[in-house]
Amino acid sequence: MDDNLKGDIQMKRTWKSISFLFVVMLLMALMAACSNSSGGSSKVSVGIVLPTKDEPRWVQDEQRFKDALSDSEYTTEILFSQGSSAKEKENVETLLNKGIEVLIITPHDGAAAASAVEAAKKEGVTVISYDRLITNTDAVDYYVTFDSVAVGAAQGQYLIDNAQGKDVPLYLYAGAASDNNAFLFFEGAWSVLQPKIADGTFKIANSVEAEKLKDKVELTRDEMSKILGQVTTNWDANDAKNKAQTHLTAAGADLKGDVAVLAPNDGTARSIADVFGSDGDITSYLVTGQDAEKASIQYVIDGKQSMTVFKDVRTLVKDAMGIAVEILDGKTPDTTGSYDNGNKEVKAKQTDVIVVDEENVKKELIDSEYYEASEFTGL
Ligand code: BGC
Repeated sequence: MDDNLKGDIQMKRTWKSISFLFVVMLLMALMAACSNSSGGSSKVSVGIVLPTKDEPRWVQDEQRFKDALSDSEYTTEILFSQGSSAKEKENVETLLNKGIEVLIITPHDGAAAASAVEAAKKEGVTVISYDRLITNTDAVDYYVTFDSVAVGAAQGQYLIDNAQGKDVPLYLYAGAASDNNAFLFFEGAWSVLQPKIADGTFKIANSVEAEKLKDKVELTRDEMSKILGQVTTNWDANDAKNKAQTHLTAAGADLKGDVAVLAPNDGTARSIADVFGSDGDITSYLVTGQDAEKASIQYVIDGKQSMTVFKDVRTLVKDAMGIAVEILDGKTPDTTGSYDNGNKEVKAKQTDVIVVDEENVKKELIDSEYYEASEFTGL
């Protein structure tokens, strides 16, 4: 072979290797760019796990997170656990695989969620309990919450302020015993209702356990568990409806007429209200709620639900994301108090609540731009 030809071949080989290297570098650059963007299997900074899509309360939280995050520089992903602790654990694992540094989580079951957040903690993730406290583990760093004892106290106080006369039949209902909040709500309600049961304003209509404890000002968790065991709705509108029907079927004439009902939240309040509203022997009923769900705002306007407790989810989202961003920026978040979760004092940020009834519904929820007037009729 002549020397010129050899040179030509060598030159071509060198060009081929250079082009090959160039293509490899280009591919690597592309892959790096992809993993920084927000799509696909890319890295997520903040993982958010909410308990269920089946209750408007949590769909509302999802929407408020999305609104707050629209111009955030950090990537986030929201997953729902659909009322299952197993699904919740899977969601946390999915988010850990995406490299989250902060986990914001509302547990389906406060005790069962411990193992999911312990897995997160092992990976160095900061855990924020959102609205519901995760109990009996030290793997929770922060807790953002409403003043849940005040929610229950406001419900109880509403019944006291609006009931007329003596011996008013009082029907008690509570949230799910797997949710620490159910105890806080009940504790708050009991703190104001108990003296009014003791002085004969109310008589307990549907719980033998509550009746047994009616002279105790402060109840232990075990004592509350006994009452909850009888009057829990499990945070389920159908359970609430069935319980209310059973109670009214069993109730004699002395437990009908003008009655008061402690319902723990809006979803259960509406179904309990429907049952009480359709009983011919119930002359009038007062019924509480919480969450300011749109359907319940319509019930309040229509006079079918007496009140709701408005918990401004925008504030909770702002507090949770505020803590998350401080962590991502390497700072120490400010807190305003702490909650004992059975294993540690968890640093907490707490938000106040607002009582809403027919009188102030427009001012608190429409004029404040939380909802639009067009979403309701008869305002
Ligand atoms: C929340 C309420 C909600 C309930 C049922 C509680 O932990 O604080 O706002 O209505 O769970 O989902």
